[in-house]
Amino acid sequence: MNQSEVTPKNIVLIGFMGSGKSTVGRELHKRLGYPLTDMDQLIEETMGKKITEIFKEEGESAFRDFETLQLLEISKQTDTRHIISTGGGIVVRPGNRPLLRQLGYVVWLDAPQNEIYRRTSRNEDRPLLNQPNARERIATMMAEREPWYRETAHLKIDTLGLDFNEISSGILESARYFFTQPV
Ligand code: S3P
Repeated sequence: MNQSEVTPKNIVLIGFMGSGKSTVGRELHKRLGYPLTDMDQLIEETMGKKITEIFKEEGESAFRDFETLQLLEISKQTDTRHIISTGGGIVVRPGNRPLLRQLGYVVWLDAPQNEIYRRTSRNEDRPLLNQPNARERIATMMAEREPWYRETAHLKIDTLGLDFNEISSGILESARYFFTQPV
């Protein structure tokens, strides 16, 4: 996770479902005042449907196409200092990973499998986990995606035992250097 190549642009949050990206994104937005782009929300607004419906009606592959399109759109924007919160599967497509790194300082929020299960089992908005074998799905998908998160991130934060305030402070502390550089 080489930090020296980072240009001072945006803060990008990646990590598995339930890792806290949306909540931490909102917290960073509040503290820094940078606009927040929540990619899942943007996809739902653009498509006029919930993610569960997109998966059901058009399938995962179509969802991934929308996700990549959205990322390409965001990458074209020249204004900087945004907080960008991504969907957990953004790293699945290899071409997305360098795009994310070019977007700014990439922070990977991580948590143990049991914790992810605990956090995600309460809601039904995640089509990939809304199935009877969610525990096994989490284990398999996390193992598969781990190297991709690692490859993409400039910073990894183990979130277990930390509250959103502490996580945000950790990110700001470490991102501060990059955001004091002229853009
Ligand atoms: C997905 C994660 C979800 C959403 C979609 C697919 C994934 O976002 O993009 O359900 O493949 O991990 P969150 O990580 O915000 O839940």
